[in-house]
Amino acid sequence: MSAIAILGCMWGDEAKAKIVDYLGDRADYVVRFQGGSNAGHTIVLEGQKYVFHSVPSGILYPKTKCLIGPGVVIDPLDLVQEIQDLEACGLNFAKRLIIDEKVGIVLPLHQTLDDNNEAQLKAAKIGTTRRGIGPAYADMTARSGIRLGDLAHPAYLKQRLRELYLYHGLSSHKDAIQHDYAQLREAWKSLQQYTASVENILHEARISGANILFEGAQGSLLDRIWGSYPYVTSSNTIVDAIGIGSGFSARLLDEVLGVFKAYATRVGEGPFPTQIEGPLADKIRQQGHEFGATTGRPRRIGHFDAVMAAYTARLNTLDGIALTLLDVLSGIEELKVCVGYKYKSRVLTTPLAHPLELSKVEPLYLDLQGWDADLSKVRSLDTLPHNARIYLEAIEDLLKLPIKIVSVGRERNQTFKTSFE
Ligand code: IMP
Repeated sequence: MSAIAILGCMWGDEAKAKIVDYLGDRADYVVRFQGGSNAGHTIVLEGQKYVFHSVPSGILYPKTKCLIGPGVVIDPLDLVQEIQDLEACGLNFAKRLIIDEKVGIVLPLHQTLDDNNEAQLKAAKIGTTRRGIGPAYADMTARSGIRLGDLAHPAYLKQRLRELYLYHGLSSHKDAIQHDYAQLREAWKSLQQYTASVENILHEARISGANILFEGAQGSLLDRIWGSYPYVTSSNTIVDAIGIGSGFSARLLDEVLGVFKAYATRVGEGPFPTQIEGPLADKIRQQGHEFGATTGRPRRIGHFDAVMAAYTARLNTLDGIALTLLDVLSGIEELKVCVGYKYKSRVLTTPLAHPLELSKVEPLYLDLQGWDADLSKVRSLDTLPHNARIYLEAIEDLLKLPIKIVSVGRERNQTFKTSFE
């Protein structure tokens, strides 16, 4: 058996799903353990486009089982729609999708709260995906949230909904309560067939020697504790979230693979020390299709930040790196990798926790020469241009980790292994 974690190690959108898809052919199980439909990605396979928000991307392999662990929050109606859309593309879910009965439920109320918060915030507007993720997790922590298993118990569900609205000072919103109740009961008709204990299944999977892939959502720098708080998501995204969010202890992992882009991006607000603007950022944004999959927002662009990357490498106890979108850097004359931050005449090699301080650091760069060649057909390290190899070696040296997988395009076959077994 092998248990491998694939984790985004920056601010999300590192093309994790591409790596999960690349390694997915050998996975018996692909597991989501945190986040919700704030995640989003599209996989193109033989000309067919598949859009994912909550369903693990392993569903593309006909024998792989896809698990949604209790650390995830779902919007039941959206999930039913996502399943129907993927079924319409020819994918089969029967006995292959398992959703834990303990997952938290995102309601329209949570989206309204998310919108209202964003409209009112002054000190730190977050720039959320407006999917209601933060308010839904807040309710789970406050013990006022609804769980998927509640949908099976009509009277209990109705009472829980009333008490949730009461908790938010909205007990007079009787129509909304009735509306949520009816919608959740309707969604349950579709979802009950998928509901089971993910922990039990993973326990059996381990005993039987199955191969398990854990698919992280968002990235380590969006972790609600370890990321650039308050500009973060509301779940934990680092490796230890696997145990909490699936019941499969992170102690049992054989390999933790950190996914990084060859440059940096961030969507939403918050400090981004290596951010660049102007023609170079525009070029990378266009070449890398850097527009949010969930919101369509243009992503902010920056140089590779080895200070942040080394920090998340150690938080996640990474064994190796998957470097994605290397092809996007072709045609850039001079590349920069951030190796330190200058702050008040001190040189720092770890990030500062406070957003006001982090937003004032001055990045210190290592300058490297770029390359012109199109990389889209490259399938091995030795056929990469010399300067691209130097670029990869610089990242390996700075992070003291091997780059085990490299990806140079959107198609499944545009990824190659350097040392991954
Ligand atoms: P929320 O998760 O919708 O509450 O948004 C909180 C922050 O996380 C915002 O900056 C979002 O842009 C960011 N975020 C959430 N999900 C993703 C993702 O899948 N990729 C990149 N950023 C994300």
